[in-house]
Amino acid sequence: MMAECSTISDPRDDLAKQLREHGQEHLLATWEEIPSQSRESLLESIREIDWSLIQRLYASRNCKPDIGKLIQAATSPRGPRLSDRADPRVRRAAVECGEEALRAGRVACILVAGGQGSRLGFEHPKGMYPIGPLSGHTLFQILVGKALARGRRYGRRMPLALMTSPLTHAETVAYCEHNDRLGLGDDLHIFCQGTMPSLDAETGKALLAVPDTLALSPDGHGGMLAAIHRHGILTRLHEQGIRHLFYFQIDNPLLDVAEPEFLGHHILAGSEMSTLVVAKKTPLDKVGNVIQVGDNLHVVEYSDLPEFLAKKPGPNGKLLLWAGSIGVHVIELDFLLRVADLAEVMPFHVAHKKVAYYDPRKRILVKPEAPNAIKFERFIFDLILHAKNAMVIEVEESDQFAPLKNAPGAERDTPQYVQDQLVAKYRRMLRESGCEIVGEPAVEIDSLFALDSWELSQKLRQGIKIAEPTYFSPDGPVLVKHGGDDS
Ligand code: UTP
Repeated sequence: MMAECSTISDPRDDLAKQLREHGQEHLLATWEEIPSQSRESLLESIREIDWSLIQRLYASRNCKPDIGKLIQAATSPRGPRLSDRADPRVRRAAVECGEEALRAGRVACILVAGGQGSRLGFEHPKGMYPIGPLSGHTLFQILVGKALARGRRYGRRMPLALMTSPLTHAETVAYCEHNDRLGLGDDLHIFCQGTMPSLDAETGKALLAVPDTLALSPDGHGGMLAAIHRHGILTRLHEQGIRHLFYFQIDNPLLDVAEPEFLGHHILAGSEMSTLVVAKKTPLDKVGNVIQVGDNLHVVEYSDLPEFLAKKPGPNGKLLLWAGSIGVHVIELDFLLRVADLAEVMPFHVAHKKVAYYDPRKRILVKPEAPNAIKFERFIFDLILHAKNAMVIEVEESDQFAPLKNAPGAERDTPQYVQDQLVAKYRRMLRESGCEIVGEPAVEIDSLFALDSWELSQKLRQGIKIAEPTYFSPDGPVLVKHGGDDS
C-alpha cells in the first residue's frame, strides 16, 4: 500500500515536510491502517490547520499574561446593582426601556452549547441533561422555554441563535427537531462553531481521535464571533431589526433569560457590551474577574491571577477584584459587526482537559482518567475590552447563577446543587407572589406558566398553601407523587 501511494507525486510529501517542521509528523503514522477512502479527508483536515500557530501556542502555554500593571491601574467596575435596595425610579426606567426593546422585537438570544462538558461526564450534549427537579426537563427545554416565554409576554417570538460544535451538532439538531424545534420554529437558528486541535499536554503532539481523524476540540465560546459571521446569522438578525443580543450559556438554568431590567440598563447607558456579575465569595473564586481600567472593562481569568493580586483590597474595604463574571452578556449587534475583524485575532487561552485519543504506536484507543491534553479556546468576554461604555450589572448569585459543571460527588455545581438552587428560587417566587409554603416541598415553575412572581400572582389565588411537591406546568399546578407520577 505504501509503495502504491509513493509513486510519482505522493499527496503526503509536502505535508509530511511541513508536519516535520512543526513536530507533528506522527499524524501520518496511521496511513497504512486506514482505508484509502478516508485518507483524503485526513489530509484535508491536517491541511486546514495553521501548524505554526499551534506550535507558537504550545510554546507559550505556560506564559501567564503580566497583569500586575493592569491591576495597578484597575478600579472597581461601574454599574448598577439589581436589588431591592436600588433606587426604584432608576429601576423602573430600566425595566420600561428593556420592555420597549422586547416589545419592538429588537432583542434576540444567543445560547452557546458547543462545550465538551468533560467535567460533567454526560454522554450527550450538556443541553440534553435532564435537570428540572420535578419535570425532568432538560437544560435546553428550561432555558429555551424561558426565551419563548419572554417573547410571548411581549407579543413576539424572540429569535434564538444556538451555537453547537462538531461534538454536539448532530445530536442537538436531532434533539431540537424531535422536540418541535423547542417551540421556536423558524426563529431557532442552529450554527456550528470552529475547532482547534487537541495536543498531548506533555509533548505538544496533536492527538488523533481515531486512526483517520484528528482529535479536534471546539474553539471556545469566543469562537462564537467567527461562527456567527461565517454562518450569516448576524446579517440575518440585523435584517430582522434585531439590535441587542442576549448572550447566555447552556449550563445555567437559574438565569432569567432576556430580563428587561438588565437590557434596559445596558441600553440607557449606551453600552456596546454589558455583563452580569456576582460579588465573589472568596478572592480565589474560579470565575473571570471584571475590572475597570480607564474607560474600558477587562476580564482577568482566575487562572491568570496571582494570589496576592486576587486578595488586593479595594477602596471601600471590599476586594478590588470583587466582580465575578457569570457568562451572561448583552451585546450590541452593531458592535459585533464593527469588530468582525477581531474574530481571527482574539487571544487563545489554554485549558487542560481529558481527551480520549488513539495511540498509533500501541494501536489502541485510550480513555484518560485525568486531564491529559491541552486545548486552545477563545473567550467571548475578551471582546468587552473593545466595547464602548461597557458596564457591569450586579446580581445575586442565588438568584441568577447555578451552573451545571460537575458530576455528582463534587463540592458544588453538581446536578443536585443546581436542582437545590432551582427549588429555592421557585419557593422564593411563590412566597413573593403571596403563596404560603408549608414545610419544604420540592416545587418547580415552568416559565410558560409564569416567568416571575408578578406573573405567578396573576395566576394563583393569594394565600394558597403549598405543602406537597408541585410542578406548575404550562397548563397549571400538578401535584407530583414520589417517583415522579402526576396526580
Ligand atoms: P465551559 O467552559 O464551562 O465548558 O463552558 P463545558 O464544555 O461546559 O465543560 P467542561 O469545561 O468541558 O467540563 C461554558 C459554556 O460555554 C459553552 C459551553 O457549552 C457552556 O455553555 N462553550 C464552551 C461553547 O459553546 N464552546 C466551547 O468551545 C466551549
